[in-house]
Amino acid sequence: MKLIAFGCGRKYGNSEVFIKTALKAAEAKGIEVEFVRLKDFEMLKCTDCDLFCQKDVYKCPHHQDDTPYLVEKFLDSDGVIIGGPVFSLTPNSIFFTFRDRMFGPKMDVASLWELGREPEEFVKGRFKARPGALISVGGALTENWTSLGIPNMYSATFSAQTDIVDHMNVYGVSDPAEACIKEEWLEKARKLGENVADAMLTGDHRWRGEQEGLCPQCHLNLIQIEPGTTKALCPVCGIYGEMTIEDGAVKINWPDDFEHRRDNRLTPKGKAVHLREIREHMAMYAPDVERAKELLKEIKDYNACELKSPIREAKKAELLAKAAEKKAE
Ligand SMILES: Cc1cc2nc3c(=O)[nH]c(=O)nc-3n(C[C@H](O)[C@H](O)[C@H](O)COP(=O)(O)O)c2cc1C
Repeated sequence: MKLIAFGCGRKYGNSEVFIKTALKAAEAKGIEVEFVRLKDFEMLKCTDCDLFCQKDVYKCPHHQDDTPYLVEKFLDSDGVIIGGPVFSLTPNSIFFTFRDRMFGPKMDVASLWELGREPEEFVKGRFKARPGALISVGGALTENWTSLGIPNMYSATFSAQTDIVDHMNVYGVSDPAEACIKEEWLEKARKLGENVADAMLTGDHRWRGEQEGLCPQCHLNLIQIEPGTTKALCPVCGIYGEMTIEDGAVKINWPDDFEHRRDNRLTPKGKAVHLREIREHMAMYAPDVERAKELLKEIKDYNACELKSPIREAKKAELLAKAAEKKAE
């Protein structure tokens, strides 16, 4: 069984220390491990080029970078760890590029299970619900400045139906190598590695983390309240709860019924609701496509305010000069 870890942080940086500590613990349980330091791989930004890459990683205009190789690595794995630093409250931009290029619709189990779509050739036979874990590392001394690290990391797990069995939100670890002296966090990382390994070995993908958290699914405490109601939404999972105040403390009850779990992003059924909405939206918009394209012309023509990339313009000028030189010869 193979566990793959993707690290978004510095080479030998703090998140790498925690990820490798987790991998070592998993390896000690007989799991084969692999580590991808994303900074060492070529991965270009997703350009949202319409529908090609949403279907097949090899049809992406950037398919000659390292992404297809990493997608294959992920598909061949039986478990996954994603880790990286917090930049301005969220994961860093490397993480977001990784998420958008690796996952999304082309990896979405829901469209296969719920909508009966055939898997693309490159994923055939390799869709599975893997156990996984998330490690977010912030330098701030309190959790306050790391609030959107793990919640954002979850967004890379929905499409391939990764079952997160543990996560750790590290804070107060900033300078390179500092992680190596933080025994308490290192111990949590070891436990996290063991938890993923146990989930892989037993097939029991239930939550194994230390804290239950407010949300019963993602085990986080990030709750969105609908103003003027007692409705609480988990913005990560998309499920609803009902808030009450008991003995002066807020309590949230999370009914397991259709009304509250309809948009449950952690299940193929919940994601299928979203897929159907996308189809419905496309059908609703279809009669207006040509009119919208016509109206867009005005925006396209309003371009005097657009700045140009100095680097790209210089390259263009260089190419034109070379072409002119060649013509003159
Ligand atoms: C641009 C930038 C923004 C950062 N913003 C935050 C932040 O909002 N909260 C926080 O706790 N740490 C922040 N940090 C600190 C890093 O999360 C911290 O140094 C971390 O240990 C780096 O992990 P790494 O060694 O794995 O790359 C920031 C660092 C940089 C470079």
